Amino acid sequence: MDSSEIRKKFLEFFQKRGHKVVASSSLIPDDPSVLLTTAGMQQFKKYYTGEADPIKDFGSKNTASIQKSFRTSDIDEVGDDSHLTFFEMLGNFSFGGYFKEGAIKHAYDFFQEVGLPIDFVTIFAGDKEVPPDTESEKVWKELGVTDIRKKGREDNFWGPTGAEGPCGPTTELYVQGVEIWNLVFNEYYCRADKTLEKLKQNGVDTGMGLERLAMVLQKKNNIFETDLFEPFIKVLPPFLSDGTKRIIVDHARAIVFLIADGVLPSNKDAGYVLRRLARRYIVRERGTGQDYFTLLGKVTDCYKGAYPSLGREEIFSVFKAELDKFEKTLTLGIHALEKAGLLDAVSAFRLYESYGLPYEVIKDAGGEKAKNLTREDFDLEFKKHQEISRAGQEKKFGGHGLILDNGELKAASAEELEKVTRLHTATHLLNAALHRVLGDEVSQRGSDITPERTRFDFLFPRKLTDAELKETERFVNEAIAKDYPVSVQEMPLEEARKSGAMFFYKGKYPERVKVYTIGNKKEVFSRELCGGPHVKNTGEIGHFKITKEESSSAGVRRIRAVV
Ligand code: SER
Repeated sequence: MDSSEIRKKFLEFFQKRGHKVVASSSLIPDDPSVLLTTAGMQQFKKYYTGEADPIKDFGSKNTASIQKSFRTSDIDEVGDDSHLTFFEMLGNFSFGGYFKEGAIKHAYDFFQEVGLPIDFVTIFAGDKEVPPDTESEKVWKELGVTDIRKKGREDNFWGPTGAEGPCGPTTELYVQGVEIWNLVFNEYYCRADKTLEKLKQNGVDTGMGLERLAMVLQKKNNIFETDLFEPFIKVLPPFLSDGTKRIIVDHARAIVFLIADGVLPSNKDAGYVLRRLARRYIVRERGTGQDYFTLLGKVTDCYKGAYPSLGREEIFSVFKAELDKFEKTLTLGIHALEKAGLLDAVSAFRLYESYGLPYEVIKDAGGEKAKNLTREDFDLEFKKHQEISRAGQEKKFGGHGLILDNGELKAASAEELEKVTRLHTATHLLNAALHRVLGDEVSQRGSDITPERTRFDFLFPRKLTDAELKETERFVNEAIAKDYPVSVQEMPLEEARKSGAMFFYKGKYPERVKVYTIGNKKEVFSRELCGGPHVKNTGEIGHFKITKEESSSAGVRRIRAVV
């Protein structure tokens, strides 16, 4: 049975048994306490608690789905026989319909139908708070299953997903020594303080990884030999280790599905997950001599049948932007990594900050040097830096009579505000002029504007020549002389991206953004995402002069200029 037959078979089986088939929800859940959708029950949380009515929404108390799921907790395990980041989860659910007996019988019958023999099952042994699951034990015995193993909270208790939510004891079905199906009996609501409260109605939440099910049905040794992976593994060069091939293919699937659900690479939340996986994919793929897009295209095409919304164009363009960004510093970063001594969290974080090398890449490429580096320490360092920069901003806002301090611009009076505004528009002109003179390799790394000067940091591998500096100045002064109008438009982020507007790599953008355009109907000089403020016409800026060009950190140049 190939994977598309398995999907079909599963949904049909439950549809025939009174379940409403519900489409997968997005990988980005509604629940703000959860980064990415980790299980099929995520979209149904409110039906377990009684906040929503399944009859009204689905015409049934029972549903079934194939859910796109993502587990960041497994990133470090990818490469072995069974772990994945992105996977598909088959599940049936009941909200006050059937309970333990019904759920176990459905599962048992499904395995009978597809010819899977159960090795053994596990049930909840009971503890101080929750009694042993004697009901499941009885049902399994009635069905003739004799190998019933009792386990504690660690193994046989699910939930909650997120900070709080439905949870309860589980019974798990094992085939060929591997856990295949997890049946959760949501009897409780787990509060944020971890205390349990009995739910008003009993619920069922089951989950079975499609990849593992395919493995046992197709009689393979591991998931990567199934039809879900084999076609992708096959096209990778034979000299790669199995582990590398698996990482490449896992990450390719993850990249495709995350982008398709609207995630953009960033330094925060789901965007940060995507960035890490994309960059590790880039580093691993680099050694293969293959084009990065071939595999992404193959994955997209292959899943299009099951997930029609996958769009090659969008996936490629988002990935390409990240690739361009990363490639600019990658060589320098790897070089710095090679030169580095033993790596700890502080030095590893510095590599991330300066060159964008994520933890996974440092750990992979660092080899022996990175042997003492742990994800916990790295994450802690990351958090520390986020807190420092947040605290810095708060301090600046703290009652010094500042009328503007948005991190980039600082002004303490109306007069200063007028100056920083002129310098701000000049900074946009400078950015655009640098692109014209040095090419699109230039990418902004930061800017800082005081009433005295603007300071602009950007990626570029070498010192600028005098001629290049003169040329840049000339472009800016010409744009000033043309007295271009400065206009602002608000638009969805997606549209802004398509308009070719310049983005600041560190920017965290909301759904709707402002795009500032400097130019007239005939000619656009600069288009950039920005919060303002800006002058109305470039003529207000006055003469522009670069006062200094220097290195800011490895691979990053710094220009100071005045108006
Ligand atoms: N929520 C459970 C799991 O993910 C069953 O679906 O394993």
